[in-house]
Amino acid sequence: MATTDNDHAAEDRWVDRLATPRLEPARDGVAPDEDALARILQTATTVPDHGGLRPWRFAVITGAGRERFGAALVAGLHSLRGDDLLELVVTKMQGKAFAAPCAVMLIASPDPSSNVPVWEQVASASCTGYAMVLAATALGLGAAWKSAAVLATEPVRTLFAAQDDEQLLGWINLGTPGARRERATTADGPVDLAQLVTVIASDDRPFGR
Ligand SMILES: Cc1cc2nc3c(=O)[nH]c(=O)nc-3n(C[C@H](O)[C@H](O)[C@H](O)COP(=O)(O)O)c2cc1C
Repeated sequence: MATTDNDHAAEDRWVDRLATPRLEPARDGVAPDEDALARILQTATTVPDHGGLRPWRFAVITGAGRERFGAALVAGLHSLRGDDLLELVVTKMQGKAFAAPCAVMLIASPDPSSNVPVWEQVASASCTGYAMVLAATALGLGAAWKSAAVLATEPVRTLFAAQDDEQLLGWINLGTPGARRERATTADGPVDLAQLVTVIASDDRPFGR
């Protein structure tokens, strides 16, 4: 079937949309409903996955679950930095759990006995985060990937029942969108591809030469 100008316009819009700065969820916004959340999570399961191992799982944090998440973040902070912390520091950490009405924790769950290297499995798990951000954005939601060093601590790992081989990769905040913000890098204009892409052809040269 021939490709029409309309098809090209639709493809252009699709690609442009992927590159558009995304919106953070509003702190006091509304959580995605069950259908939207299921679509976001289903989309996450379509990521490239060598061997079809599904080396990831997710935990949805919502409503009062945010209290438990916040408490675990604070306990993790104390385990890293001791009991004697400024209240401001503790409040900031706890506040991360309340930055959005809903969040999805990404848990890489690789099988070390597989022929597929663990790093590939973790890479696949990482893709689920971006897939969720894109799916949520396409549904008109705010979405942002967040992380904190305390994810590696025992109190936080325990909340998410992380097994020895599992890794918490961060969480995706979800909800009705908040204020628009500029992407930091767009101020500099488009990335100069010649700086980061080499073309392997009959010779090796930067992209665009
Ligand atoms: C693994 C990972 C962890 C991140 N953690 C944070 C974070 O804790 N805080 C933050 O402001 N941005 C974090 N980011 C970046 C944001 O998700 C987002 O990419 C950034 O705010 C720029 O927005 P944009 O992706 O819409 O351009 C993280 C990104 C990744 C991939």
